[in-house]
Amino acid sequence: MNKDCIIRNETAEDYRAVENLTREAFWNVYRPGCTEHYILHRFRDRPEFVKELDLCLLLNGRIIGHIMFARAEIKADNGNILPVMTFGPISIHPEFQRRGYGKILLDHALKKAAEMGAGAVCIEGNMAFYGKCGFDIASKSGIHYYAEPRENIVPYFLLKQLRTGFLDGITGVYKPPAGYFADEDEAEEFDKLFPPKVKLKLPGQLV
Ligand SMILES: CC(C)(COP(=O)(O)OP(=O)(O)OC[C@H]1O[C@@H](n2cnc3c(N)ncnc32)[C@H](O)[C@@H]1OP(=O)(O)O)[C@@H](O)C(=O)NCCC(=O)NCCS
Repeated sequence: MNKDCIIRNETAEDYRAVENLTREAFWNVYRPGCTEHYILHRFRDRPEFVKELDLCLLLNGRIIGHIMFARAEIKADNGNILPVMTFGPISIHPEFQRRGYGKILLDHALKKAAEMGAGAVCIEGNMAFYGKCGFDIASKSGIHYYAEPRENIVPYFLLKQLRTGFLDGITGVYKPPAGYFADEDEAEEFDKLFPPKVKLKLPGQLV
């Protein structure tokens, strides 16, 4: 880890600052505004939330990064349910992006997840970043995204095996835990607790 930053667990005193950081990082990136700060807010009380992997990255005492993990499942074609993990939101404050902190935080969290016994981690995201942390397109390993036809190579649905052999001989389907599906109106209400920000429709957004 870089000597100038530390990573520690989030505490209740950090909650609002971390939600604001999440909002700053995601605002207008994937859609006008964002809902990730609301998703994080609700997740902390959910059973899938992994408390040990609710981590903040601090630089000179200031929280500039955060990641949370959730327990998830792959429904294997052989009828078994395989416990896996997923993560997100992961946020680095816009002023500190592209300086290596996101990779430091994710690598650290993945190492801890492996120590906790997680066999694999699934994520929807960009290979340009997650590929640097060892993720690859999940459909190459026979793990498919619930919302896409199986025959598709889904470039945004990624997987990293943490335990050798965990997915040997397994094919199946992954669906994100329910906590990732936010009610838009509730998210909109929650956003009013934060300083006003302008929603913009920008090129490259997904929605
Ligand atoms: C995505 C995010 C967590 C990455 O953290 P970061 O500190 O900015 O990324 P790093 O500096 O550690 O990136 C490491 C490498 O990943 C790649 N990478 C990171 N962000 C990238 C991006 N937006 N586009 C393309 N490649 C990217 C680059 O190769 C980078 O190395 P380089 O800067 O030397 O080229 C951060 O940019 C962020 O908070 N973004 C907004 C919220 C978000 O999109 N979260 C992820 C949702 S899936």
